[in-house]
Amino acid sequence: MTAGDDPRLADLDEVPEDSTLLLTLDDDGSETEALLIRLNGEVACWKNYCQHWTDVRLDKGDGARVKGGEIWCGKHAATFDPNSGECTFGPCEGAYLDEVEVTVEDGGVYLTDDDYGFVRRGPAETDDDDALGSGGGRIDFTGS
Ligand code: FES
Repeated sequence: MTAGDDPRLADLDEVPEDSTLLLTLDDDGSETEALLIRLNGEVACWKNYCQHWTDVRLDKGDGARVKGGEIWCGKHAATFDPNSGECTFGPCEGAYLDEVEVTVEDGGVYLTDDDYGFVRRGPAETDDDDALGSGGGRIDFTGS
């Protein structure tokens, strides 16, 4: 498999195992955020919002908290398996982060997901949470 013309997002060495690297992607003309996390030589890429309150970002620009090998949401402490994206604990347990397809080749991480284009490393340039691609939905069954 070759990365061909797929955009290079980062060097593999730049993607942390104990935090995340924030990206801005183009989603049909709107900016949306995603995060990269390294997993034993592979890399996972997830959309940058919690599955509990989808207007809550996991990586606020300085890397998401990763503890015990899980991505933490800073709002109500939901944890996500970085391999599968599954919420393993918390108010959205059993839900999954939204995946963005990437591949690792020749020491680089490439975007292979046709639904998105690469814009930049770092945060989206918007104050509008809806523009982050989360839909802005806030559904809380916990009262928290
Ligand atoms: S918003 Fe993430 S756990 Fe509540």
